[in-house]
Amino acid sequence: MKKVLLLALALGTATTASAAGKLEIFSWWSGDEGPALEALVKLYGQKYPGVTVDNATVSGGAGTNAKAVLKTRMLGGTPPDSFQVHAGQELTGTWVVSGRMENLNSLFNSEGWKKVFPKDLINLISYKGGIYSVPVNVHRSNVMWYNPARLKSWGVAVPKTWPEFLTTCAALKAKGLQAPLVVGENWTQQHLWENVMVGVLGAQGWDNLWSGKMKFTDPKVVGAFTTFGKVMDCTNKDASGLSWQQASDRIADGTSAFNIMGDWAAGYFTTTKKLTPGTGFGWATAPGTSKTFVMLADSFGLPKGVKNKTEATNWLKLLGSKAGQDAFNPLKGSIAARLDSDMSKYNVYSQSAARDWKSSRIVGSMVHGAVAPETFTSAFGALIDQFVAGKDSKAATAAAQQLADKAGIGK
Ligand code: GAL
Repeated sequence: MKKVLLLALALGTATTASAAGKLEIFSWWSGDEGPALEALVKLYGQKYPGVTVDNATVSGGAGTNAKAVLKTRMLGGTPPDSFQVHAGQELTGTWVVSGRMENLNSLFNSEGWKKVFPKDLINLISYKGGIYSVPVNVHRSNVMWYNPARLKSWGVAVPKTWPEFLTTCAALKAKGLQAPLVVGENWTQQHLWENVMVGVLGAQGWDNLWSGKMKFTDPKVVGAFTTFGKVMDCTNKDASGLSWQQASDRIADGTSAFNIMGDWAAGYFTTTKKLTPGTGFGWATAPGTSKTFVMLADSFGLPKGVKNKTEATNWLKLLGSKAGQDAFNPLKGSIAARLDSDMSKYNVYSQSAARDWKSSRIVGSMVHGAVAPETFTSAFGALIDQFVAGKDSKAATAAAQQLADKAGIGK
């Protein structure tokens, strides 16, 4: 980079925006979560060698910390040039509705993206006719991970429903395994909750919760909370101190039998831990969700008033391109958001996810920003903590309905 600059200066050429520009991107993909994003940054560097990229990250799974920092920056008038945000309400219900994002319609037209991204995904990033971010991937949330060799040695099969899971949990406990299911900090428990809900209520039931057709106080939801409570009784006592990666480690090393996590875990197992899908780790749909794909998509948007709009727009172009998506996703564990990606670049796990993406009933993740308003999601963590401590399904569902009312769900 320096060489290019020196050369430009020596030749007396102007340091134009693209020759010596800057770009700040903002996300929570640091450390173990970094390699996929770094591959994109590298590609960007090859295309725009004069631009200095500040790959700003605030670590913490699911963006719990990053989103708070982003909020301060957005409200303080110092937005990053482009930032990670989940497709869905996390984008449209916050920064779009408050008029802080650029409408990317013309970029979608000029890049031909309206034809290459699934319609439903474009709907998730649209608001009143405008499109407001560029999706880089599709992650699946409803995956159960396990260690094939250890399951064999314990003599248990992968449970297909939550009641079956509870039987398997009892069998494993009887063999002396204290925590058949490993969970981590609060958001990973919400992630588990979401999977129990979809598994017990079904895809339509889950959708009905977010459209307001089914109340949280419905006896079915109360029952699903009770199941979640029993599932939590199968988990480790040190959950609150574990990151999602540390929880995944317990699958890799065989100290727990199961973990429910999004398929960034596949990225972690293959890219970071160099495990082979199918032997180093196994996967199945979360109990009761075999025909459903609980989706979320990471995307990047362009805030209004950024310092480096040209560089940020070029970043978005790369992110939405076939080359960009096929560099990022094989490392990330996700599949491309584009429909034309080269599946030979992906491992067997991702190939199976891509097949299911086409054939399953699709629903959106609450924890990862797709289906619920921020007012709901930001308060739900405390509700889960309280539920896990007291296991009072009636109180929890009443509180959840209050939250839903406050967030305007079903209005
Ligand atoms: C999700 C995000 C994934 C992954 C995960 C763990 O919210 O969409 O890409 O980063 O959090 O941090």
